[in-house]
Amino acid sequence: MSKIFIKTFGCQMNIYDSARMRDAFAVMGYTETQNPDEAEILLLNTCHIREKASEKLFSEIGRLNEIKTIRTEKGLSTLIIVAGCVVQAEGEEILKRAHAVDIAVGPQNYHRLPELVAHYNRKNGRVLEAHFPAESKFDYLPQTKATSASAFLAIQEGCDNFCSYCVVPYTRGCEYSRSAKEIISEAIELVNSGAKEIMLLGQNVNCWHGEGATDLGDLIRQIAQIDGLERIRYTTSYPSKITENLVQAHADIEKLMPYIHLPIQSGSNRILKAMNRQYTAEEYIEIIQRFRKVRPDIAISSDFIVGFPGETDEDFEETMSIVRQVGYGSSYSFKYSPRPGTPAALMKNQVSEAVKTERLLRLQALLLEQQKKAYESMVGKTVPVLLTEKGKKDGQLIGYTPYMQTAHVKAPSNLLNQIVSLKITKASATSLSSELACATIEK
Ligand code: 5AD
Ligand code: SF4
Repeated sequence: MSKIFIKTFGCQMNIYDSARMRDAFAVMGYTETQNPDEAEILLLNTCHIREKASEKLFSEIGRLNEIKTIRTEKGLSTLIIVAGCVVQAEGEEILKRAHAVDIAVGPQNYHRLPELVAHYNRKNGRVLEAHFPAESKFDYLPQTKATSASAFLAIQEGCDNFCSYCVVPYTRGCEYSRSAKEIISEAIELVNSGAKEIMLLGQNVNCWHGEGATDLGDLIRQIAQIDGLERIRYTTSYPSKITENLVQAHADIEKLMPYIHLPIQSGSNRILKAMNRQYTAEEYIEIIQRFRKVRPDIAISSDFIVGFPGETDEDFEETMSIVRQVGYGSSYSFKYSPRPGTPAALMKNQVSEAVKTERLLRLQALLLEQQKKAYESMVGKTVPVLLTEKGKKDGQLIGYTPYMQTAHVKAPSNLLNQIVSLKITKASATSLSSELACATIEK
């Protein structure tokens, strides 16, 4: 049996893509291994969103090349494949700089991997496929199967928003929505193979406009009809494109979890405009209020960028102030990272690294304090948790509350991949301790 080793960097969409690549290679007889030494194919799925993410690639290729060299000395054939957004942006550079790489494919070309590998002969030249093909990769990929009770499902990809700091419109291409029929058929397949929760993925998931449903809210209503599916989530949402139907879905659909990731990026209207975000801080607050009106307990999370070009102390204070106003359950925050080819990278008024660091630390301290409060507010409550992982400690299982908080419990291993009632006993800023409230599995 041939083996493939896959290492994934970046977002949930990349994790989903890696699973689809694994499925495509499974058809060719490859099984996945966590040990690169025994793999005929070494695959890196890359991320280009921030500078640090891209930098990792070349050191990672170096490490895999050492394995390839040892294997070659033993007479074992090995291919190094690089996939993902760095290939879309810098594919030629990768092949030029990293001679160990055999095949490089962009995010819209990976369905061609089995064919490229089958016909590959290094003597005829190494391969770069990084265009935006007319066909959809989804029409060519084999059916996918769930590997855990919580599964990802990409429903929309790409972006037409062109935020001035972001590479996604260039690396993932323009917005594309899969049809409701295709999505529902994949969701049924995931449920039949063990998924109890599905996370609908899209770079702008609420901009979904595929055939067969009027908007994301309507699509979620259709997906909620699937028997055996217990939980639905979606990410990432773009604030100004939230429809009333999606908000209402949080009131009507029990399976839709009370959690929304709604990145604001900055609390300053001046900076939001320079970022080319299509909303003001006031409009963002109003959207949050609409969600809270129908689902008062909904947990809100966000992404933030500090030190965007031209961000003054006053602008940053406005970000701190909006965080205090909203009260986030969890969040991700980053220093602005200039990306080649984006308008913001050419802006003259770049902020110094020292100022970015100081602002990030202050923001993260505030966000962590809020997260801690949100976790502490769970103590004493009994909540349904989907247990998806084994913990490091013996007999420990880990899962997520409806609000996307991590919970640990000592429980028999047959409860793995089940939804159970847990009584929360203790909280830290990043996790909950709990005990089984009852042995019966919650529906
Ligand atoms: N610099 C820093 N953070 C960025 N993000 C996207 N592009 C950049 C950049 N150039 C962040 C945004 C986005 C998240 C996925 O990554 O906050 O929501
Ligand atoms: Fe990037 Fe903005 Fe599109 Fe999100 S909405 S993927 S931040 S361009």
